[in-house]
Amino acid sequence: MCGIVGYVGEKQAQDVVIEGLRRLEYRGYDSAGIALVDDGAIASQKRAGKLANLEKAIADAPLPPSTTGIGHTRWATHGAPNDVNAHPHLGGARRVALVHNGIIENFAELRARIEADDHVLLSETDTEVAAQLLELQVESGIDLTTAMQRVAGQLEGAFTLVAVDGHDPSRVVAARRNSPLVVGLGDGENFLGSDVAAFIEHTRDALELGQDQVVTITRSGVEVTGFDGSPAEGRRYHVDWDLSAAEKDGHDWFMRKEIFEQPRAVADSLLGRRSAEGLLRLDEMRLSDQELRDIDKIIIIACGTSFYAGMVAKYAIEHWTRIPVEVELSSEFRYRDPILDYSTLVVAISQSGETADTLQAIRHARLQRSKVLAICNTNGSTIPRESDAVIYMHAGPEIGVASTKGFLTQLVACYLLALYLAQVKGTRFGDEITEIIEQLEEIPAHIESVLAGADAIYELARSQLGARSVLFLGRHAGYPVALEGALKLKELAYIHAEGFAAGELKHGPIALVEDGMPVLCVVPPLGRDQLHDKMLSGIQEVRARGAYTICLAEEGDDRIAPLADVLIRLPRVPVLLQPLLAVVPLQLFACELATAMGHDVDQPRNLAKSVTVE
Ligand code: AGP
Repeated sequence: MCGIVGYVGEKQAQDVVIEGLRRLEYRGYDSAGIALVDDGAIASQKRAGKLANLEKAIADAPLPPSTTGIGHTRWATHGAPNDVNAHPHLGGARRVALVHNGIIENFAELRARIEADDHVLLSETDTEVAAQLLELQVESGIDLTTAMQRVAGQLEGAFTLVAVDGHDPSRVVAARRNSPLVVGLGDGENFLGSDVAAFIEHTRDALELGQDQVVTITRSGVEVTGFDGSPAEGRRYHVDWDLSAAEKDGHDWFMRKEIFEQPRAVADSLLGRRSAEGLLRLDEMRLSDQELRDIDKIIIIACGTSFYAGMVAKYAIEHWTRIPVEVELSSEFRYRDPILDYSTLVVAISQSGETADTLQAIRHARLQRSKVLAICNTNGSTIPRESDAVIYMHAGPEIGVASTKGFLTQLVACYLLALYLAQVKGTRFGDEITEIIEQLEEIPAHIESVLAGADAIYELARSQLGARSVLFLGRHAGYPVALEGALKLKELAYIHAEGFAAGELKHGPIALVEDGMPVLCVVPPLGRDQLHDKMLSGIQEVRARGAYTICLAEEGDDRIAPLADVLIRLPRVPVLLQPLLAVVPLQLFACELATAMGHDVDQPRNLAKSVTVE
């Protein structure tokens, strides 16, 4: 995933583009670059590494003033993250500059065609091939918009292309397929961005683009066409968060800010979900009640943290609706020849709405005539646009690469879907559904009380500096929480961490337990039949082998105390809702341990916020 900015207007384009790239740097930070249209030519600069490297290069060799420009922050797919492979890429005549997000799958044959015409390409990238193709078109006398339509029509794969022509300062032209791009609508100026953070400080009026479209922005307007040049429309919308939401609000990291935003995010994800009569309503649903009644199987597809949210959702949906639920990794789903038909509901969980593995999986599902419902946080993104229905999480922008409030609001959206299905299918009485919703509405306050204990968790995390391997145990809905806690530690502290179903430990993994090894245990609420007893047995087994047990257990659970070297208390909630609380200490633990190790928790090594390549 990469960050892209385009601008044409009255301001200095360099200022607008660099600031936009700063807000997009979380999307990729292997390199950064800018290109400006300057009196008949392109002025450009690019550097490997973070945006600061580019800014230093510009300070050393200033760019000319210009009111038309594009910029890019890169997460490398083709070619190493170095200066040569950094975007923008220019055609051989240095007349056209291009930035790109995605993968052009037929670039090898296009490259061979270009090189056969004796054009020399300097980089290993697929982007430079597209830049050269564009330049050959405009050099033949056609305008950049027509050139983009023709070139985009030759490309296969996933791409957002944004280009400028040194001979035409009036416009910035872009094309998109399977890759994010949104238009910012200003007064006497217009913007392009990989997401609204690129231009949010200038305008909150945006235009969502469709598949296979070319957009031309000028000072005075925006024109949208198909790749064939036929007129097309975007969907205009107002962005419902402001610049401050994209800032850190005084926290040291976006991730920590987003952990502490979780009470608000969960509250927002519940807003407006009940009608005046108290019934659940999911406005974006777009699936009729009858279509939902016909559903006899649900398959949840997702990646990473979103997959673990889907694992929790399975327990809730099956318990409240009695519909069988399978949970599948998006990257595995379509290769196992899944059994799908019109009565299968495929639920795609994706915070970014751009994850290529999940996008390709839903396309497969739709080809098999299944209905697809997206649970997503990003308005205007590809996955909800290509789904039959969507439930937005309303978590606000999640900038930190490690998902936190995204996970909690995905859980809320899954609970709401389960309850809505129960309401439509009549598998739960109205008052039962109302009771669960009221329990959900108390969760923000419960999260606040868990967050109030953050300092003790920070102290615990710092005490574990030097840990080489950490285990996480859970049962039932606590098992996916254990997996998510382990993932947070892996992706932030770069420590080996593994989550287990506690009952599985004795079937092999317990051999891993060494004296003093930290084992974090998510203890189910009391009274859940055998579950609590079995969890205590598992904890005793690891303690007998020297484990340092850090237990998360509900208030009033005194049976756990003798088994816990450290005890973190959770407010009492039903077992299906406990994941909303149990994950918070694990997020704080991973964030603090990683920062104590000097890691950048917002941009962990090798990772990007949304993986838009398969
Ligand atoms: C979670 O902390 C990671 N950033 C990653 O596992 C993420 O959840 C996964 O890539 C899925 O992203 P999505 O929700 O945007 O599809």
